[in-house]
Amino acid sequence: MHPSIPSPLIDTVFLGDVFDLMRQLPDKSVDMVLSDPDYNVGVKYNGKSYTRSFEEYIEWYIALAKESLRVLKEDGNMFFINYPKQNAYLRVLFLDKACYDVHEYVWVYNTNVGHSPKRFTTAHRSILHARKSPNNRFYKDPGSSALSESHG
Ligand SMILES: C[S@@+](CC[C@H](N)C(=O)[O-])C[C@H]1O[C@@H](n2cnc3c(N)ncnc32)[C@H](O)[C@@H]1O
Repeated sequence: MHPSIPSPLIDTVFLGDVFDLMRQLPDKSVDMVLSDPDYNVGVKYNGKSYTRSFEEYIEWYIALAKESLRVLKEDGNMFFINYPKQNAYLRVLFLDKACYDVHEYVWVYNTNVGHSPKRFTTAHRSILHARKSPNNRFYKDPGSSALSESHG
């Protein structure tokens, strides 16, 4: 446990705006950020539909990644799940410059949304894995001790 994290924030699940919560966290206090934000495609969550201009959304998404990077420990890991296009913008406009390394994984995601006679459907989501330093702690197999990557 990080000594300067206020104790009510430990081992608790909060329902609130992610920025209000992260603002309360000290710099470099978090081992991992896993972010699966709304994708700005009008999907309803709890009766609320999230849509704004793409530019506004990317600005918000970059601010989210910046705040995540601030709270992340030097040896921590960040993961961002989103549509491929949103993650491409986040990666090129921010993560590639701000992080030591960014890697992309694919989540195969069959969907009933977005079918069109004019094109195929995007049936995957992108997961960006960003590291702050080459010394990220990473446990590739369950029960294994920390592995240091020898080939990036
Ligand atoms: C793609 S869904 C993620 C679902 C989640 N992975 C799960 O399994 O429940 C996006 C979620 O982000 C929430 N959300 C959107 N904007 C938020 C914000 N500013 N702060 C906190 N949560 C937010 C939405 O209410 C929704 O539950």
